[in-house]
Amino acid sequence: MKSYEIAVIPGDGTGPEVIREGVKVLEAVAGKEGFKLNFHFYDFGAERYLKTGETLPDSALAEMEKMDAIYLGAIGDPRVKPGVLEKGILLKLRFSLDLYINLRPVKLYPGVWTPLRDKGPEDIDFVVVRENTESLYVGIGGFFKKGTVDEVAIQEMLVTRKGVERCVRYAYEFARKRNRKKKVTLCGKTNVLTYAWDLWERVFYEVGEEYPDIEKDYAHVDAICMWMVKNPEYFDVIVTDNMFGDIITDLGAILQGGMGIAAGGNIHPGKLGMFEPIGGSAPKYTGKGVINPLAAICAGMMMLEFLGEEKGAERLEKAVIKVVRDHLKSLSAGKMGYSTEEVGDLVKGYVENPPEEEVGV
Ligand code: IPM
Ligand code: MN
Repeated sequence: MKSYEIAVIPGDGTGPEVIREGVKVLEAVAGKEGFKLNFHFYDFGAERYLKTGETLPDSALAEMEKMDAIYLGAIGDPRVKPGVLEKGILLKLRFSLDLYINLRPVKLYPGVWTPLRDKGPEDIDFVVVRENTESLYVGIGGFFKKGTVDEVAIQEMLVTRKGVERCVRYAYEFARKRNRKKKVTLCGKTNVLTYAWDLWERVFYEVGEEYPDIEKDYAHVDAICMWMVKNPEYFDVIVTDNMFGDIITDLGAILQGGMGIAAGGNIHPGKLGMFEPIGGSAPKYTGKGVINPLAAICAGMMMLEFLGEEKGAERLEKAVIKVVRDHLKSLSAGKMGYSTEEVGDLVKGYVENPPEEEVGV
């Protein structure tokens, strides 16, 4: 039987609650599809940091590097200064493991509320490919005369040809494999950030020559924000840098129903992937059993796809669609009409006994 080694970092706040449901559902999928998932739990997060001062030791990174995938709940705790855990754990994983693609699908399932009044599932179905190791996130910069009236802060944006190339290539390949509109839109800011986005744009079209079957398209990030709201059906694959990708994927998340369902993958193609719900640790809901586990479950679905277990991913997606379409009142925490655990049980039930009818995957 095929088996996979999965590192699990439940993390902070509601992370452990949603990961528990994700693991339960994934085990059910594995049981049905005839493969095995061996979960290895790691307790990195706020609690451990507050006790030991340790965020993520290199020894753990080395262990995780050998796994087939990493399943992450959420990182962030109000007791810890912003940035410490984010940089020390989440960004460290992304950077050290060179997970250079942040893949964030924006897909509205039937029956799910969207703030776009006139749009439905047939309109909202695109993917954002966010570069995940460069741009403003590299942390280059510093203060000068800190704390004085003459204070200066510098935060540098770093872009490399290699980094852009592997990212746009992934986007083209993805558009090809996805086989829908076969279009990649570069989301940048060539009219103002004339070095960084000039490099992006040149590499985008250069690499694009290898993909004559894919339509190339460019739009500024500000315009993209508007178009995502006005005409989301225009998009197929959007490729962008780390910073813009961070921003537009929160907008994307609300279009598909919010943080209750939005999932993402941090991927080094062919090597390793880390999958996470894209919302935060939602500390105010911790321990109440009201948080929606579907984002974590959908992250698990992306993990199955990454592992090559497409049939399992499809089985899981059908179950999720059935649950959001026929059961949940809302995707928001506390308004689902079910507890966190009950939502997990519903999904598990449909994984084990798939709905007979067409659910529109
Ligand atoms: C995300 C988050 C992270 C980011 C934070 C928590 C560091 O917002 O995954 O989008 O900015 O990338
Ligand atoms: Mn973000």
